[in-house]
Amino acid sequence: MAPAPFRIALSGKGGTGKTTTAALLIDAFRRMGETPILAVDADPNANLHEALGMEVTESLGSMREEAFTKAIPPGMSRHDYVRLRFRQVLVEGTGVDLIAMGRPEGTGCYCFSNDLLSECLAGLQAEYRFIVIDAEAGMEHIARGTIGVPDLLLIVSDPGARGMRTATRIRDIALSLGLERERMALVVNRVRNGVAEVGGEPVPVIAEVPADPAIEAADLEGRPITGIPADSPARLALSALAEQIRERAAAR
Ligand SMILES: Nc1ncnc2c1ncn2[C@@H]1O[C@H](COP(=O)(O)OP(=O)(O)OP(=O)(O)O)[C@@H](O)[C@H]1O
Ligand SMILES: [Mg+2]
Repeated sequence: MAPAPFRIALSGKGGTGKTTTAALLIDAFRRMGETPILAVDADPNANLHEALGMEVTESLGSMREEAFTKAIPPGMSRHDYVRLRFRQVLVEGTGVDLIAMGRPEGTGCYCFSNDLLSECLAGLQAEYRFIVIDAEAGMEHIARGTIGVPDLLLIVSDPGARGMRTATRIRDIALSLGLERERMALVVNRVRNGVAEVGGEPVPVIAEVPADPAIEAADLEGRPITGIPADSPARLALSALAEQIRERAAAR
């Protein structure tokens, strides 16, 4: 039997580089041949696909609304229809598939849909080696249990004192959600001149990612982040992180 997938979630305050880090980490795993990888965009304001250079036409949130209300093709059960539509939301790429969670839309009771969608998601996840989740600071989907418990929570912070304090608050949210401290690590992103001392690290630093002009250039020109040169400093840092994570996954 294939080993269980290793689930990595990225959280952090707005604009710290969660999506960039997620994209480069996914690309590093892909280059290492650690495929297939499932990329989960759990940010309602989805943009991981752009960083990866993939196209998303639909999110799980928008599909759910339709799949549970629309008339279904004759001879098909609602369950089968939802399963079919679920598969259509998944974007398949080379070594990497992507699913965007979108917003939970509409009101009313979604118990049935949530159960069924959770079942679909759980079934899907089993097929992958690594699952990389681009989450927001509040970790909604992790809190609601829709995407499972991460094996590793990467808290992304900028190197400043305020960023590090926010990282501490995010760690506390994660602790309150029942995640173990041993499964959390800090990624300090956009490092130029060292990292602020705020009286102890919120969680151990697993990687320092340099501020990288190639990322800025890609962003300015609207190109996928994964297209930056192989020897660019951020890519090298993320490749080293991917190696570390691979060892962790193997040691489980
Ligand atoms: N190491 C880096 N070097 C240079 N620029 C970077 C680096 N990491 C991220 N950026 C830039 O910082 C900005 C924010 O990055 P990103 O979108 O990845 O953050 P985020 O945490 O996902 O933001 P949000 O909270 O809006 O989802 C982007 O313009 C990105 O290009
Ligand atoms: Mg983002």
